[in-house]
Amino acid sequence: MESHSLINLNRMPADVRAKIQSAYEVAPANGRYLHEDTVYSGDARRLLKLIKPHSIALSVWSPPYYVGKAYESYLSSYEDWRCLIQRVIRLHFDILQPGGFLAINIADILCFQDEQMPRIQADLVSRKGSPIKHEDVAQAMSEHPNLNRYQIAKLLGCSEQTIDRRLNGNNIRGGKHQSQTRVKIVGGMVEDWAIEAGLYPYDRRVWVKDPAWENSRWASLSYRSVDEFEYLYIFWKPGVTRYDRRRLSSEEWVEWGSRGVWTFPSVRSNGEHDSMYPVELPYRTIRLLTDPGDTVLDPFIGSGTTAIAAIRCGRKFIGIDREKKSVEISKRKIASEPRQLCYTIPTTSHKI
Ligand SMILES: C[S@@+](CC[C@H](N)C(=O)[O-])C[C@H]1O[C@@H](n2cnc3c(N)ncnc32)[C@H](O)[C@@H]1O
Repeated sequence: MESHSLINLNRMPADVRAKIQSAYEVAPANGRYLHEDTVYSGDARRLLKLIKPHSIALSVWSPPYYVGKAYESYLSSYEDWRCLIQRVIRLHFDILQPGGFLAINIADILCFQDEQMPRIQADLVSRKGSPIKHEDVAQAMSEHPNLNRYQIAKLLGCSEQTIDRRLNGNNIRGGKHQSQTRVKIVGGMVEDWAIEAGLYPYDRRVWVKDPAWENSRWASLSYRSVDEFEYLYIFWKPGVTRYDRRRLSSEEWVEWGSRGVWTFPSVRSNGEHDSMYPVELPYRTIRLLTDPGDTVLDPFIGSGTTAIAAIRCGRKFIGIDREKKSVEISKRKIASEPRQLCYTIPTTSHKI
């Protein structure tokens, strides 16, 4: 086993050194490592093993959430999904630089079906059928073509779910015939998997996005809230971490660098890819946790958003995706992203 010397183990107390030394020894893969500034097609569980040990300053990604998307259809069970995320996290220890970070953007699994959960016995105290008919909605829409669903609902004195039901014959928050769902809080699992991998919970940010009514397949008889925020869980690999306050302007520190809640909209049009995150999310994370020239990884690159953010920050990237279509989209977007010859630290707030 060759010991890579990016971390100076000699600076550590002998007992700590004895404990962690073997974890920092990684067998070289005959130098056939994945190249920077490239997006690879394949399963992250295979390709992460081909990344040069201790080379990644930050890995920032959003995994499949196990919510029935086409790109996760190869996962035949919830257990498969758990194993995927656990394995991908596990594979990060060797490739992260000592002192580097893993940042995982994930939401609670809102519509997790649980056969075991007793059906809620609803006492329909206040429920009355709305007298609004399809014709009423159609007439209001033709008289007020500029009003959206919420405004039409207000005009007619009913809920926007009623509007949707009358227009589309469905119930956007689910219905009484759907099987019972429970909230699955994933943060604890992600934390356990990271700790098992040798990483330490370092920080957690909340990304407030816009309310996604159409994604909330709640039973209609429910006091649950709509899905409108996600988490960014940040884990640290022990080692020397460079602290440089100049990474952000003083305005940026105040606005978001030192703030636990980040607010910006989600990607509204998912024409290119089914579930893109906004470039602002990896952009901020990269600016905060890396320096120009560092390498940023995304093993679930999707439409290439992380790579675009890395390029805009003057960082290198490695992207991986199992879907050929995602890799093509990423490559196309990356090719049309203007390169900066030299990255300078902005002195004022930088909107992207
Ligand atoms: C939530 S999307 C990521 C979207 C991305 N952040 C963006 O902004 O476009 C998850 C991606 O993971 C990919 N994926 C699913 N399973 C994978 C696996 N085992 N290895 C690599 N990629 C995988 C899917 O094809 C999908 O593009």
